Amino acid sequence: MTLEQIAEEIRSHTGCGSEPCETCTSFVPGEGSPDADVVIVGEAPGAREDATGRPFVGPAGRLLDGLLAEAGLERRHVFITNVVKARPPGNRDPRAAEVAHHRPWLEAQLAVIRPRLVVPLGRHALRHFAPDARIGEAHGTLVGEGLFPLYHPAAALHNPRLRETLLRDARALGAALG
Ligand code: URA
Repeated sequence: MTLEQIAEEIRSHTGCGSEPCETCTSFVPGEGSPDADVVIVGEAPGAREDATGRPFVGPAGRLLDGLLAEAGLERRHVFITNVVKARPPGNRDPRAAEVAHHRPWLEAQLAVIRPRLVVPLGRHALRHFAPDARIGEAHGTLVGEGLFPLYHPAAALHNPRLRETLLRDARALGAALG
């Protein structure tokens, strides 16, 4: 399967009868390079993403773009996606059953790209890859073989100290990539 075929499958998904698949405006499969060394994984789309069908295009996305630049990366050279491909109503946290429902799509994307590093953003995304890791300890470090967690940029929007930490961690990501 190609990334575009996976995206098409996600966009045409219908009839499961569950939130957020049935309540979203657009599915947000993710976007970027099939040859990406780095896959960025957020939790779930927000309002702007739901309206446009694109990941991280709101305020957190602008901060993410700055972090990528700090790491020496460009958006078009990485792949950006979320664990859950549809916006939960009211931006509530995705439920375990919803994560399980969407997980095969993320696994399929990762199997196609085979990145050097997966960068989960925030504790919810991190839990998906390393259930026992804590974001407060794991952020900005290489965890296991190919996991490099960062704090979620949305958490830093109103917290200048966390923003500094994120910028430092993004530079560490760039160094880990060599
Ligand atoms: N927050 C996320 O976790 N994902 C997005 O796509 C946008 C905001």
